[in-house]
Amino acid sequence: MNIKKLRKDFYFLQKKNYIYFDNACNSLRPDCVVEKINEYYKEYPVCAGRSNYALAEKLTTDLLGVRKNIAKFISAKEDEIIFTKNTTESINLLANSLDLKEGDIVLTTDKEHNSNLIPWIKLKSKGVIHKTINSNPDNTFNIERLSKVLCPEVKLLALGMSSNLDGVSIPAKEIIDLAHKNGSLVLLDAAQSAISEKIDVKYLDVDFLAFSGHKILGPSGTGVLFGKKDLLEKLGSFLVGGSTVHSSSYDDFELADIPERFEAGLQNFSGILGLGEAIKYLEKIGLKNIQKQKLVLNEYLSNELLKIDKLHIIGPEEASRRSGIVSFYIDDIDSHQLSIMLDRSAGIMTRSGQHCVHSWFKSREVASSLRVSMSFYNTLDEVKKFVDELNNIIKILR
Ligand SMILES: Cc1ncc(COP(=O)(O)O)c(C=O)c1O
Repeated sequence: MNIKKLRKDFYFLQKKNYIYFDNACNSLRPDCVVEKINEYYKEYPVCAGRSNYALAEKLTTDLLGVRKNIAKFISAKEDEIIFTKNTTESINLLANSLDLKEGDIVLTTDKEHNSNLIPWIKLKSKGVIHKTINSNPDNTFNIERLSKVLCPEVKLLALGMSSNLDGVSIPAKEIIDLAHKNGSLVLLDAAQSAISEKIDVKYLDVDFLAFSGHKILGPSGTGVLFGKKDLLEKLGSFLVGGSTVHSSSYDDFELADIPERFEAGLQNFSGILGLGEAIKYLEKIGLKNIQKQKLVLNEYLSNELLKIDKLHIIGPEEASRRSGIVSFYIDDIDSHQLSIMLDRSAGIMTRSGQHCVHSWFKSREVASSLRVSMSFYNTLDEVKKFVDELNNIIKILR
């Protein structure tokens, strides 16, 4: 992979003064994605599905093409792909349409993003119980603990496939097999995995899977929910209205087929088209190459950080187990102050705070961390600059 050449595909990266290390929030988008969005607005800014003029038919066909490509990307069938606006909406859709009853248990890990925690806690009002499986001290998944807590009441495991807190992935296949033996369904939150881990829903045998387009080079506000067809058939409806019904009368309606039943109102046509381009681009680069570059950068950065006094990396020490994420805190220095100074002094964009995993920070009594999340277009030179700047700032602050 020629990174210098690849960087030319991103207009933003031609700006010399920026170093973007907030890829866990959203990735940068290559120019082909931006051009595709422009193409929609310039060449066929029309409605799909509802109109029968030629341009509307072209848009409908192109959107179907994207649905097929996304399905292929995760080894699903096209009618198992529901377009949403992000992972959060995908999970909310599921939480609000699954047939969960009083006494049913939903299990998550103890370090879920709020988007895979709050929707389940909220079901308390229906009597649904949310429980967490505690991770090992180094934040890795504890499979033995899972096998101990599985019981007939556990109807769903909703798990982050890879954590935005520390980059650690769970042994998804092993967990799914165990859950299915117990009769539980599994939802994987693949928001952080989809950009560099090959996801094969058939091999995994996962029941539901959610991810965001904007974390995999796609436009803002695009997302996907995958569900096995027979399970989608059993879901209740969530958002309803235009596009979700075959027909209606004053007092009744007949739901449309799957997946349209779940895609209420006019959709983000330009975003979906852009997401289609993003996936083509990702496949051209190869997810393995993306992961390889993340690990090279993480290895270097982690080794350098571990030389700093009073600095703690969240998660396992080995960089190879944390993908492109290094989340750390320094006992005597405020993470927010660090993040602001890195930006103002060197244009280095990082994230400070609790990264929407407040529950983990609260339970560990850690105030916040600075998160560096790297992608394949980041370079070793950028990481070296980060380390130099960080050391300079620490000297100033101490
Ligand atoms: C693991 C994980 N799950 C869910 C989300 C929510 O994603 P979105 O804001 O795109 O809905 C994020 C966002 O960072 C995440 O990292």
